[in-house]
Order: sequence, then structure tokens, then C-alpha cells
Amino acid sequence: MKIVIRNTAHEAAQQVADLIAGHLTAKPDIVMGLATGETMRPVYTHLRTLFEAGDVPSSAFTSFNLDEFSGVPPTHPGSFNAYMMEALFTHIADAEGRCFLPDGMADDPQMAAAAYEAKIAHYGGIDLQLLGIGRNGHIGFNEPGTPFDSRTAAVELSQQTRDVMTGFDSNRPHRAITMGIGTIMEARHCLLLATGEAKAAAVGAMLSHPPSLACPASALQAHTDLMIVLDRQAAGRLTEHQLLEVETC
Ligand code: GLP
Repeated sequence: MKIVIRNTAHEAAQQVADLIAGHLTAKPDIVMGLATGETMRPVYTHLRTLFEAGDVPSSAFTSFNLDEFSGVPPTHPGSFNAYMMEALFTHIADAEGRCFLPDGMADDPQMAAAAYEAKIAHYGGIDLQLLGIGRNGHIGFNEPGTPFDSRTAAVELSQQTRDVMTGFDSNRPHRAITMGIGTIMEARHCLLLATGEAKAAAVGAMLSHPPSLACPASALQAHTDLMIVLDRQAAGRLTEHQLLEVETC
């Protein structure tokens, strides 16, 4: 595991975009796992700039998003589909055939989840998984208590997660389809970004020993190729022992 702390959220996001760019340059047809959330918006902004400048190849990668709300149409502004269209997919060629999200409108969400898992396997698995972290330590929409070997599934969202949801006036979704923790752990590289004071407790719990189901992100301690990029605020509750592993920039 490698932990990098940058001074600001902007710098942290820029570093994550540069790391993604490095992977794309080395292997343009990479399979990426993508994440949503406010934390990721500046990552996609920076990535778009690199694409537009022609510095990084954008036409050959495949992507699978971590999750999507159930019962929310892809055109709804609160859907992760709409988020990804705005942040990335309308800025690259042929996204429709190679950039995938779980089908939030499926009649049978469990079946759609299994199909999504099979599709990831069909493409050879995820090379680089981008991850944010929820305030309660969730990754994707794997809420506290989720077994570390879970697969892509239809899940129920916690009240805490629903309380901080953006993009919905009322009628916030109760359910989602998410890659499982086991699915995420199979990605060859994982890159987690957390910024802001609101994530400090979750980041501290993620790195506390031993891993605990109470903090889903703590499963990542066992990942063999994990890079964590934080800003100073998100790193604010790391213990001295945890900080020993940090490379400060
Ligand atoms: C949602 C997503 C997660 C993301 C989290 C954090 O719950 N399912 O993948 O990590 O939000 O979002 P934000 O960056 O807005 O705090």
C-alpha cells in the first residue's frame, strides 16, 4: 500500500488524474473501474483537459462504473449515468459501446447485477479501479457489514448514505446495484482518492488494524497494489503509526 498526502483537494485530484493518464499511456486499451461522487469531479475535469490536449489516449479504454441507483432512469440528473455523461462520456469517442454502468432500471436487479459481474469477467477483469470512500467507509455502495468477499449485487442504502446524497430533491433512492467488495479486490490496481475533513474519520478507520466489516474500505488493506491519495484534511485523523507509511508531497 502506498499513501500520498497532497496539500489541497485540487492537487490530490490532479495527482489521481495524472496517475490514470500514466496507466492509459502505458496501455491505451486498459479496462478501468470508474467512480462517481463530488470528490471525483475534479479528477474527470483534469483528465478531460489531458484528453483534449491530445496528451493521453482516450479512444481505446473500456470502463465499468462501480454502481448505479435502482429505479432511477439514466436521464435523471441524480443518476450516476447522467453524472458520467457530463463528466466524461460525452467528451470521448464511442463511449456508448465501451463505457458501462449497472442497469438501474432492470426489472430484476439481482439478475442485472450478475450480468454486470459476468460482463466484467468477459472483458478480462478490471486493470485499474478508481475508488472514493463514503463517510461511513463504504466503497462503491458496499455499506458497513458487507462481507469482504461480496460480488456485484442489488443492495440497500444506509440512511447515512441517503442523507448526504446529491442530485435528488426528494424521493432519494433506497437501493442500488454495486460491484461487490470481492469484485473490487480483484482489480489489478486500486487507486483511492479521499479529500476533505468529512472523510477523515473514514480514512482513519480504513487504515486501522485489523480490517473490520464496520469499515468496508478496510478490506483494501489486503490489496496487493493499492495507492491512496489524500489531501491534508482527509489525512487529519491518521495516527503516527499510520503516517509512517506516508509519502508526503
Ligand atoms: C457514493 C458512491 C461512492 C463514492 C461516495 C463518495 O456513495 N457510491 O463510490 O465513493 O459516494 O462520494 P463523495 O465523493 O460525493 O463524498
